[in-house]
Order: sequence, then C-alpha cells, then structure tokens
Amino acid sequence: MRLLHPSASVSDSATASARRTLLIVDDEEGPRQSLRVVFKDAYDILIADSGAAAIELAKNNRVDAAVLDIRMAGMSGTELLANLKIIDRHIEVLMLTAYETVETAKQALRHGACDYLTKPFDLGVIRQSVDNAMQRRALTDSLRANSQELNETMDELRHQQRTQSEIYASVMHDICGPLSSITMIVEMVKMDLETAHGSVPAPMLDRLTQANKQAARCIEISRRYLRGSRAQDAQPSAVLVNQVISDVRELVAINPLSKGHQFTAMPLARDVLVPINGTELVQILLNLVNNALQATKAPHTVSVSAEYLDAPLDLSRLVDGPAERLINRENFSGAPPLLALCVRDDGPGIMPDVLPRVFETYFTTKGSGEGTGLGLSIVRRLVARLHGAIHVQTTPGKGASFTVYLPAGAK
Ligand SMILES: Nc1ncnc2c1ncn2[C@@H]1O[C@H](COP(=O)(O)OP(=O)(O)O)[C@@H](O)[C@H]1O
Ligand SMILES: [Mg+2]
Repeated sequence: MRLLHPSASVSDSATASARRTLLIVDDEEGPRQSLRVVFKDAYDILIADSGAAAIELAKNNRVDAAVLDIRMAGMSGTELLANLKIIDRHIEVLMLTAYETVETAKQALRHGACDYLTKPFDLGVIRQSVDNAMQRRALTDSLRANSQELNETMDELRHQQRTQSEIYASVMHDICGPLSSITMIVEMVKMDLETAHGSVPAPMLDRLTQANKQAARCIEISRRYLRGSRAQDAQPSAVLVNQVISDVRELVAINPLSKGHQFTAMPLARDVLVPINGTELVQILLNLVNNALQATKAPHTVSVSAEYLDAPLDLSRLVDGPAERLINRENFSGAPPLLALCVRDDGPGIMPDVLPRVFETYFTTKGSGEGTGLGLSIVRRLVARLHGAIHVQTTPGKGASFTVYLPAGAK
C-alpha cells in the first residue's frame, strides 16, 4: 500500500522524486494513522501493518527511513530491523517502544537502529528524530555518490595508465622480434657466402658484422627501457642527455615510420647529466617524433635538438594562442637550469581548430589502427610529473614544433 501526499502524484516527478520516503510499521491502526498524518506533508509515506508487509514494501520501493513498532504480532520490530538492513543497510530505522520494551529498544540500537522513542510519543520529539534520520540518509547518499564518482575516476586513471604502459612496453617488445630476425638473417648470409665463395670477403664481412652490432645495440636499448618501464622506480633517475638522444636516433632508424623521411637528432655540444629518468625522456621524445613522422606520408624532415639552459626562461615569450600553446604553465617556474628538447617537422602543421584539442586523451585525427589519441596525453602527464612545460608552435602548411622544458637541476 503506497500512500502519497494527496497534493502530490507519482507523475509529479519534480517534487515527488525530491521527496524522501518514510515507512511506518505498526500492527495497531491508531499509531499508524497518527504518524501518517504527522509526516504526510513532509515525506512520501508507506504504511505496513506487519513485518512481512513491510519487507514487501521495502523490496519494491526505495525507503529512506522507517519507524518500527517493537512489539508486533508475528515478526517483532527487532527482527524486522534486521531484515530491512539486509534489503538496504543505509535505511535509517527508528524504534517505537512501550515502557516495558525499552531494554529491547536499546538492543536494537546495537543492531543498527538510529534512535528509539517511547510511546506515547511527543510529536515535536518524533518529528525532530525522523527529520534527523532523513538528513543522515541524505548525507549518506551524497557521500556514496561522491565516492562512486571518485572510484570511477580512479578506475579511468588506472585504465589509462595501464594502456599507456602496455602500448609503450609492447612497442619496445615488438621491436626486439624483427631485430633478432635481422641478426639471424645476417648470420645466415655470412654462412651462404662462405659456402659459395669459401670465405667472406673482408669488406663484406666488416659491413655484415657492423649491421649485426647495430641491431644488437637496438635490442639492448629496447631491453633497457623495457626493464625501465616495468620498474621505473628501480631505474636510476639520472641520465646523460646525449645517451638518450643517440638511443632515440637508433630506435627511430629501425622504425618503419621513418622510411622515406629525413630524420636528424643533434646531440648537445657538451653532454650533461640530468636528474631525470631516462625511460621517461625516451618515451616523451619517441611520442613526439612518431607524431612528427606521421604528420604526412609525403617525404618530410623531422629533427630532434637539445639545449641546456642556465638562464631563466622568458615565459612572456611563450603564449597560449591560436598557433601556439603552452601546457602546464601553472606548475612551471622557468627557473634554470633547464633542459629543452625540441622536435620539429616541416609537415602540414596543426590547424587552429585542432590545436586546442591535441593533448586531450583519446583525441586523434588519424584513422583507426593508426592513432590512439594517447601519445600527447602521455607526454603531457610525464612532463607535468617532472614539473616541466610543453610549448607547441605551428604554422599551418609549414610544420610544427614541440618543445619540452624540464627542470634539470639537482633535486
Ligand atoms: N607534429 C604534428 N603535426 C601535425 N599534427 C600533429 C602533430 N603532433 C600531433 N598532432 C595532432 O595531434 C593529434 C593527437 O596526437 P596523439 O595524442 O599523439 O595521438 P595520435 O598520434 O594517436 O593521433 C594527432 O592525431 C594529430 O592530429
Ligand atoms: Mg601520437
């Protein structure tokens, strides 16, 4: 039996849905009706004359609070309390008790009731008590909603993190496969030459040995960063900048994306050790270089350069505009020393309507199978963690440059 306030209706959703529901359970008609009259203006009322009927109502309706008589024929109020808490442990339950069942009511508090009132009840007191119960319920609801939102955000973050490191690890891993095949093929060519000519001519043997050395070195680099991506904390958090640049050069050289394009990576004139995790630097650079290589299929040029800055960066020069963006400005001081890494290409550049979105997670202008929309969001996250900033500059039709500024002083 569902009794709604006479002036409300189920379809009156704006008010009905905002109203909370009070369940009144008593096996005596008198108290049932008087409670209904007291609360009908404030709440939607459900009334039951027995524990069994109350359970049915609670199963089929949302109940925010309940007022239960302790002594009822059949199922007692205390038993009903336990059953209601099984249906929804957040229902606020108030026990009504006669003088002789006060001890039982106190026990009910230990089983999750929020309050008890002795009969005959004072109207002001019961109103206050039910209103308090409803407020507690509203508070629980909003806490639950917030914690659910928090959990969803955490899940999403965990998912992103997993996807990012999985992609990175699988790229590194996939590179090792073909490289191992190359070293095997080179060895087989040597054997074939030996069989055909008795011995391999020295210059040829030299080149083949060189090829294998390079391939072995790339395998070693991949393994190094693969280990690093699995145990980032275990890896020493300092690296020689030129080591990173030469590793990136070798990894790009064997990347099919670089085929047909010109790629250069300029080391620092004087190498420096920076207190930054090498795996993270490689990850940043590879993502930027891959984007630059993918900017167009037409042959174009991509370059990586590095600069060690020991004067403060003039941030007023770097603005956030239609052809330019500065990411993580709010957490970046520009204080020296800084490492600036720049990836530049002379591809088509980035259109003004695309530029504001490029760092969004899952934003891509590439076809499915080509782009995941994760590259720049990985770069943004890594750079933010290193307290750096990213400056993007583009001229549509002429190319784009991404410069990453990272604090390079001792931490
Ligand atoms: N060097 C670049 N030249 C032109 N567009 C770029 C360049 N770098 C990034 N973009 C744009 O930014 C988008 C997002 O890049 P990213 O986050 O790495 O994802 P994805 O490469 O998977 O698309 C790209 O789809 C592209 O539109
Ligand atoms: Mg990308």
